[in-house]
Amino acid sequence: SEQLAVGLLGYGTVGSGVAQIIHEHQEKLQHQIGCEVQVTKALVSDMGKEREVPSGHIEFTTDADDVINDPKIDVVVEVMGSIEQARGYILQALNNHKHVVTANKDLMALHGTELLQVANDKRCDLFYEASVAGGIPILRSLTEGLASDQIQKVMGIVNGTTNYILTKMANDNRSYDDVLAEAQELGYAEADPTADVEGYDAARKVAILATLSFSMNIDLDDVCVKGISNVTEEDLAYSKQLGYTMKLIGLANRTEDQVEVSVQPALLPNEHPLASVKDEFNAAYVYGEAVGETMFYGPGAGKLPTATAVVSDLVEVMKNMRLGVNGNSAVLPQYEKNLKADED
Ligand code: NAP
Ligand code: HSE
Repeated sequence: SEQLAVGLLGYGTVGSGVAQIIHEHQEKLQHQIGCEVQVTKALVSDMGKEREVPSGHIEFTTDADDVINDPKIDVVVEVMGSIEQARGYILQALNNHKHVVTANKDLMALHGTELLQVANDKRCDLFYEASVAGGIPILRSLTEGLASDQIQKVMGIVNGTTNYILTKMANDNRSYDDVLAEAQELGYAEADPTADVEGYDAARKVAILATLSFSMNIDLDDVCVKGISNVTEEDLAYSKQLGYTMKLIGLANRTEDQVEVSVQPALLPNEHPLASVKDEFNAAYVYGEAVGETMFYGPGAGKLPTATAVVSDLVEVMKNMRLGVNGNSAVLPQYEKNLKADED
């Protein structure tokens, strides 16, 4: 086709970033995929809001069917959040034979297996690189770059909001509430920041990382979670005095006979590589049996870093469309076993 038509479900922090990158990087995108890319429609909840539209015309609507059922739209990008509503829209889009890109870790951690199966059945792509660690291409690194290895351990900082809070509280002596409000203002936090500060957002991301790393269906209930809402300015000052940095650490560790997945605040010696990961930045240490130690680092939240991951997924969709291999390439782990079933 002469144009890849993209329909957005959501035009907030990430959605407006997607439109901006498609506009600003149009020449490179055209070069990579061989045709023009255009955002044609976007679902929003409030038609009265003033919106920046980088170029051309985007038709805004409050009716999801206008996007999902539009025969001219090739790819639906879900960047609105929520679980059940987004799941319904994505299933509808896949059933309409549209490819889907999503940044929704809540949804993928809970319903990823079902959605990927439907995508596969419909020979559609469903990509979700932006759902974990924002601008760091960690999912493709695990499933493609390290595809030949046996991954044993993933340890990382995978929530930008809590890392921002811990960094500013420790280094600038600012209060928890003040920094959380700033992280919300900057677009890092979830619509309800409870998921960030209580560690649930990180838990969903670690469940996705563990699922892809170990080819094992990791249930969210199997992740031990503790957040940072009880961390005080005194805790951080005291840790600093002792030469430690507090970080919210996600861990997925596989031994011969068990898998451990957790999220909790940890005190790292200042020399530890993860101790120097500041502000909204994320990092993941990945240990593979053959490759040994690898580290991935970058912005874990925010408009343009996250939108970069979404638009890169669009490029993959288009490449697959050209090759006629959509659906085969959706990241669908062949599970070795299910952790829960195994314990029974
Ligand atoms: P956001 O700024 O709150 O934007 C959400 C957008 O979706 C808004 O345009 C909103 O409409 C629209 N929307 C929400 N519920 C809707 C509904 N029921 N019907 C119609 N439109 C609806 O959120 P965001 O920060 O862009 O995050 C979007 C998704 O990306 C979430 O799944 C989030 O977890 C994920 N994500 C975010 C980041 C980040 O750094 N922000 C990073 C990675 C992943 P209005 O504009 O009218 O309010
Ligand atoms: N709220 C999330 C964070 C957005 O702070 O990391 C990126 O997934």
